[in-house]
Amino acid sequence: MEPVRADNVTATAAALLAVNNIEVIYNHVVLVLKGVSLTVPERGIVALLGANGAGKTTTLKAISNLLRAERGEVTKGSITFAGARIDRLDAADVVRRGLIQVMEGRHCFAHLSVEENLLTGAYTRRDGRAAIAADLDGIYDYFPRLKTRRRAIAGYTSGGEQQMVALGRALMARPRLVLLDEPSLGLAPQLVEEIFEIVARLNRETGVAFVVAEQNTNIALRYANYGYILAAGRKSYRDVKFYRRRKRWLA
Ligand SMILES: Nc1ncnc2c1ncn2[C@@H]1O[C@H](COP(=O)(O)OP(=O)(O)O)[C@@H](O)[C@H]1O
Ligand SMILES: [Mg+2]
Repeated sequence: MEPVRADNVTATAAALLAVNNIEVIYNHVVLVLKGVSLTVPERGIVALLGANGAGKTTTLKAISNLLRAERGEVTKGSITFAGARIDRLDAADVVRRGLIQVMEGRHCFAHLSVEENLLTGAYTRRDGRAAIAADLDGIYDYFPRLKTRRRAIAGYTSGGEQQMVALGRALMARPRLVLLDEPSLGLAPQLVEEIFEIVARLNRETGVAFVVAEQNTNIALRYANYGYILAAGRKSYRDVKFYRRRKRWLA
């Protein structure tokens, strides 16, 4: 077995998530994904790239088991998380195991305050109020903007703040892996940078792994260990390419 250095996260490290040759069909007839495989190492950041409509959101929802709500189904292949098959579980079970998705479009509860939104993320936890309060402080440490805005109604905060609320809420579930769907969408470059810096710091300091779906290849590959490109192919089938980048510490 190859030794794995902490600063050398590669696909050969113990896989936290393994998506194996999956196929997704919507409404029993529309084949959207075929032969998609990807691996996320423990403590890794992996980019999932592709143009609009390539199947990024579908892939993330297949992993977090949110497809059924869309009349979609994984009809082939398997998905393994932390050593166990998860492709037949329901979405809440997947969250309890430590895998959570932050939806595209930064869904917040618009009428609740920033802090109330963050607290809703702890709903699957059973470790009590003190632990949850400590984690809330932790979130504010990573997102100082949210601390300032804690009493603000989420619906009236900026797009960047709402993206932070959505990510912060996911973190309150104490995940091992976060699926982040197009965090850069509609945000100014400086805010995108700020959010990716927070993701990188969270990853470095807490070990939480990320899959980041992005059309913005440039920024995603700057922060990821490596990435996959979902390419729309002919005959309505998508093949997936594997792109490895030089590690940042080598660059
Ligand atoms: N609920 C659905 N029913 C049928 N087709 C869908 C559904 N959701 C997405 N699609 C189709 O699946 C393809 C991939 O979409 P999506 O996964 O949202 O791509 P991306 O996130 O990369 O933009 C698109 O052609 C889209 O029209
Ligand atoms: Mg999408």
